[in-house]
Amino acid sequence: MKQKLEGQIAIVTGASSGIGAGVAKEMAKEGATVVVNFPVASTKNMAQVVVDEIVANGGRAVAYECDVSKEDQVKKMFTDIVSTFGTVDILVNNAGLQKDAPFTEMTLDQWNFVLGVNLTGQFLCAREAIKEFLRRGVNGKSKSAGKIICMSSVHEVIPWAGHANYAASKGGVMLMMKTIAQEFAPMKIRINSIAPGAIATPINHDAWDTAAHLQNLLKLIPQKRIGQVEDIGKAAVWLASDDADYVNGTTIFVDGGMTLYPGFEGNG
Ligand code: BGC
Repeated sequence: MKQKLEGQIAIVTGASSGIGAGVAKEMAKEGATVVVNFPVASTKNMAQVVVDEIVANGGRAVAYECDVSKEDQVKKMFTDIVSTFGTVDILVNNAGLQKDAPFTEMTLDQWNFVLGVNLTGQFLCAREAIKEFLRRGVNGKSKSAGKIICMSSVHEVIPWAGHANYAASKGGVMLMMKTIAQEFAPMKIRINSIAPGAIATPINHDAWDTAAHLQNLLKLIPQKRIGQVEDIGKAAVWLASDDADYVNGTTIFVDGGMTLYPGFEGNG
């Protein structure tokens, strides 16, 4: 059977751990050559573990260091990848982080750091990807000239006390995604978001590391299970594939029902 992303080149930002690593592995299984981006030298080994697993399973991947919040580094990453592999077909704008603080104690550094990676980083990578998609056009590997998947969060719609920087970044991702989807749909470029709920990764370790914490978290999830990175990886493969060719400018919530306001069950 033909693989869904056969022969396509995918850059997955922040792929050395968590959701990014999960997306990289699922895309490689479907035939994509995956660029496993990692932010700093200290995470190189983690990225290499992801690459090694993909290669051991018969896939293709390389690790690439780039801090997505830095314009010069992002430009260099796209130049290098295009010169090595010929083009980029898929960008997964995944790199993201949290620096939580009560609002009145939040420092400007915490604010800027989160907005810099989660929102500016997605802008910088999307801009370079779209320039490459426009240069290349439709090439027979896909019905689209290129696909971008922005990793958002349920917090693009759910307010989150103590996380103003993070929620603001994801709200920003939502309208950046929709705006550029509107701008580039006529050029056969598809841009969508995935909004994960609580997925078991290092970013939210404190929310599921003990039975008591997990029980508390599950009150927010109607489906009564925490998500796994594969749940997001499979959605990302579908969105990037031609099976989703008519899906453009929307957010797919993969959250076990977290956005269904479970507090209203039997109340209100
Ligand atoms: C956050 C996680 C959180 C989840 C649900 C995600 O975007 O990064 O820390 O568990 O949203 O609240």
